[in-house]
Amino acid sequence: MKPRPLIAGNWKMNGLAASLTEARAIADDLAQTASPAEVALCPPATLIAQMAWTLRGSAVLVGGQDCRAEASGAFTGDISAEQLKDAGASLVILGHSERRAGHGETDELVAAKVEAALRAGLKPIICVGETLEEREAGWAIAVVTGQVEDSLPETLGGKAFAVAYEPVWAIGSGLTPTIEQIVEVHAAIRGVLRRRFGSTGEAAPILYGGSVKSSNAAEILHADEVGGALVGGASLKSADFIPIIRALG
Ligand code: PGA
Repeated sequence: MKPRPLIAGNWKMNGLAASLTEARAIADDLAQTASPAEVALCPPATLIAQMAWTLRGSAVLVGGQDCRAEASGAFTGDISAEQLKDAGASLVILGHSERRAGHGETDELVAAKVEAALRAGLKPIICVGETLEEREAGWAIAVVTGQVEDSLPETLGGKAFAVAYEPVWAIGSGLTPTIEQIVEVHAAIRGVLRRRFGSTGEAAPILYGGSVKSSNAAEILHADEVGGALVGGASLKSADFIPIIRALG
C-alpha cells in the first residue's frame, strides 16, 4: 500500500508568537478542501504549545525539531520527547544535518533519540543525507543507506515513522538533485526499510527535503518513492507553503 504523503515544515530557529498567524492560515486553507497529505509544522520549541493551541481541531499537526534521548534530568537547555508531547507535539524531526554537523550527532545518538520519541508516543521523522564531497566521490548511496541502517533502531518495527532524504548541499542553497538522483536514493532507502522492517518499512513515507519550493514541488512530489517533503525556508509563509501541499494534486 502506498503510504499517505507527509508534508512537514521545519521552521528551524525562526518564528515569534506573531508567526502563529501563518500556521492558522495554513489550517484555514486545509479546512476549505481536504488535504492531499498529512501536514505538520515544526516550530522552535518556544512556540510548540502556543501553536498546538492555535491549531487545535485542525488538520495540521505540530512537531518538534529535536529531543534529548533521556526522559528528564540535569540537562540544561535540552528538551525531552515527553516534554514535546506534553506541549502538544505529535511528531519530532531527528538527525537533521544541522544537528549532525553543528552538534556532533552520530547515527547512534540519533537512534537513541528515535527510541525516546517512540517511548513518548511521538512519530519520528529521521533525516539522512550526503554532503557534496560525498556525492562527488560517488558515495551518496553508501552514506545514506549507512545512515538509515544505523540511525533507525529495530524497535521501529510496527511503528509509524518517516525518513527524510535531505542532501546536505541542497538545504537552504536553492540547489536540488535531479529527479533521477532523488529516485535513485529513495529506492535505495526503500530497499533498506523493506528488508529491515517488512510491511512497516513499506508503509513509512520517504520525504525529500532541500530547497523544496512551489516551483519544483509538483515534479519532486510525484517522483517514484517520494512520499512527501520536509520544507525549511518555504514553510515559514503560508503563501509559500500552501502551494507545496497543493502540488500533490
Ligand atoms: P530548506 O530546508 O527547504 O530551506 O532547504 C530544508 C530542511 O533543512 O529541512
